[in-house]
Amino acid sequence: MKFARSSHCMSNIDNIIIRSPRLLVRRFTSADGNDFAEILTDSETVFYEPYEVFTQEQAIAEAEKFSHDERFFAVEHQETGKMIGKLYFSNQSFSNTYEIGYTFNRQYWNQGYASEAVRAFLQYAFTETQVTRICAIANVKNKRSCHLLEKLEFQKEGVFLENVCQLHFSERIIFCYYSMVKNCLSVSSC
Ligand SMILES: CC(C)(COP(=O)(O)OP(=O)(O)OC[C@H]1O[C@@H](n2cnc3c(N)ncnc32)[C@H](O)[C@@H]1OP(=O)(O)O)[C@@H](O)C(=O)NCCC(=O)NCCS
Repeated sequence: MKFARSSHCMSNIDNIIIRSPRLLVRRFTSADGNDFAEILTDSETVFYEPYEVFTQEQAIAEAEKFSHDERFFAVEHQETGKMIGKLYFSNQSFSNTYEIGYTFNRQYWNQGYASEAVRAFLQYAFTETQVTRICAIANVKNKRSCHLLEKLEFQKEGVFLENVCQLHFSERIIFCYYSMVKNCLSVSSC
């Protein structure tokens, strides 16, 4: 998906796209490597993610890779310039639905940063792009993520069993499926 530049762009730095009170959501750069390593090398942070904990070197390489991948966004703490989180935003095949995902540095959890970044991103996507529906999928055991989505007023559509490998779970996993629709007029006319 191509994001058009918009009034949310409040900087002449090309890769900044969204500014919220404390954060910038922007493209990754290779300079994010060490900050990204703090996130990806932490086993508690990646516990519900579909990948193993990274080494420092792998995480640095991942930041470089993400700087060329339009599905990933870095969340920067404005006051310090530190990259504290990652957003994922990607089109679901054959639909106008985009999936959003998020991973934040554990040192910054429970301070409202993920809520602030995701809320700003949703606002941007629904007002400045053609996106009309955004979904999110969380392991039912990932209470933090489910709580975040419900706080942001995503609708829980249901749960489903996904026979994917989530590394720390030997049993089949139950996922909660959430969505948010831009302008749902009424159930009968949707
Ligand atoms: C999920 C995640 C992004 C939340 O980031 P965050 O910056 O802490 O989020 P916020 O501070 O905006 O909100 C966290 C909310 O979860 C609540 N919370 C914290 N621990 C919780 C728990 N064990 N159970 C339920 N809610 C919990 C907080 O109280 C807060 O809610 P509140 O504002 O109503 O009090 C972060 O924990 C993370 O990166 N987790 C690892 C990656 C991950 O699991 N990603 C999602 C994959 S689907």
